[in-house]
Amino acid sequence: MLLAIVIALFSSLVYACIQYYRYVARYPKGPFPLPFIGNHGVVDFERQHTGFERISKDFNGICTIFTPSPLVHLRDYELIKEAFIENGDDYIGRPQNKMFEMFAFAPNGGVINSIGDNWREQRRTALSILRDFGMGKNVQETLVQSAITDMLDYLDEMKDRTNVDMHWPIQVMIVNVVNEIMFGFRHKYAESGPLLKFLLDRIFSSKLMFLGISLPFLVDLPFIGWHVQQFVIDNIHRALDGYSTDDEPSCFAQAYKQRMLTNKALDEGNLYAVCSDFFLAGMETTMTTLRWAMVLMAKHQQIQDRLRAEIHSVVGTNRLPSLNDQNNMPFSRACVLEVQRCANVLSNNVYRETRQSIPAGTMVNADIHHVMAHDPLFVHPEKFNPQRYIAEDGNTLRKDLIERTIPFSIGKRSCAGESLAKVELVLCLAAMVQHYRILPCEGVEIDLEPLARGLLRPRDQNLRLEKAF
Ligand code: HEM
Repeated sequence: MLLAIVIALFSSLVYACIQYYRYVARYPKGPFPLPFIGNHGVVDFERQHTGFERISKDFNGICTIFTPSPLVHLRDYELIKEAFIENGDDYIGRPQNKMFEMFAFAPNGGVINSIGDNWREQRRTALSILRDFGMGKNVQETLVQSAITDMLDYLDEMKDRTNVDMHWPIQVMIVNVVNEIMFGFRHKYAESGPLLKFLLDRIFSSKLMFLGISLPFLVDLPFIGWHVQQFVIDNIHRALDGYSTDDEPSCFAQAYKQRMLTNKALDEGNLYAVCSDFFLAGMETTMTTLRWAMVLMAKHQQIQDRLRAEIHSVVGTNRLPSLNDQNNMPFSRACVLEVQRCANVLSNNVYRETRQSIPAGTMVNADIHHVMAHDPLFVHPEKFNPQRYIAEDGNTLRKDLIERTIPFSIGKRSCAGESLAKVELVLCLAAMVQHYRILPCEGVEIDLEPLARGLLRPRDQNLRLEKAF
């Protein structure tokens, strides 16, 4: 009897294994997975950019990593382009996960994690509203410059600039830009500090974020999501308080509310979800990139001096740099590209889901980190070297390198805030270097080893600022 049970169990196990490896064979080849656990234990999912780099190197740019669900990993630029641009419609889904729904306010709501017709409609509407408000153009340039002026005033008033935590002023500046676009008002430096710092920094850095992805029931516990949700809800209420849809809208939330009258796909749940998506996506990434810009400048004094010389000769010191100046400032544009390439903040990208070619419903990760950190076109990619983007004529930028600098990803689902982010990065970096010499604190070495917490972040380190004119 016992023998029969053992044989039955053994046969079931063998059968399950055969079935498992038949299932594995449907996907592009990758590191050998084990039944039930796949490649878990082989990859450190918190430091995916190095883990994926190591285990995907022998598979010609495409492999499957079992997490244990299959994740098809693309790491070469040409393959990512073939998938996301040439076959774009097959790769526009997003995997559905309860953790992601946390910020969604409505089933399949918002832009970042929604799919199908609702994604298309919400993205189209959001971009159209932002265009009406001058996204990436002069209106937003004025708004960004005004938020930068507030930040510079805050720094100017500091009595001691020998040991400055730049995280905080950059954070308020970026939050104020997004807040003004979305909700029509700004936070004052003096009043908003503790609340914003708690909400935005602690929650995003939290390991609970990662736990929530693996253990979705955690999302129902009150301590992860509600702070952010409540913050967004309060801001929307403030924006809509007293607003009549007969009036000209003055911010995103009001414009969306007005469009709800004529478009059935727009409703209250999606209003909250889209505002939440743009508010959250719009600040953490840009702020982290600017924090990288500060430490990279502090580390590379010669590059910073050359950038300042260009800014002072083109813009002078009596006004802030503008978008028009960029045409005459190739080194400044090269610096922003190189900061984004080296910072590589969203190293994990945002996963997509397939419809065809590989089994439908499979998660896909386009490894933008690998492209920017290892593509052979970037000579000595480990070096921070903005000069690499400048063509031989000394003025134009190299298109082949720009094509592979893809921090916003590519294709139909690429970053919806790219043009705003670029305005913020270009203007803020130029204004900071125009006004200040950014230096390490006395006797301290700048540490460029990233912290992998959702985004690749620079380590907390204070800087010394000296007036540059
Ligand atoms: C340096 C700053 C930024 C970086 C590096 C960045 C990067 C990204 C990346 C890699 C994606 C995923 C794209 C894909 O799936 O292929 C994304 C999506 C998105 N980003 Fe950004 N982003 C930045 C700033 C912003 C800003 C300022 C906003 C809004 C104001 C924004 C809004 C969004 C939205 C709504 C999506 C989802 C798009 C969709 O699913 O259709 N991002 N971003």
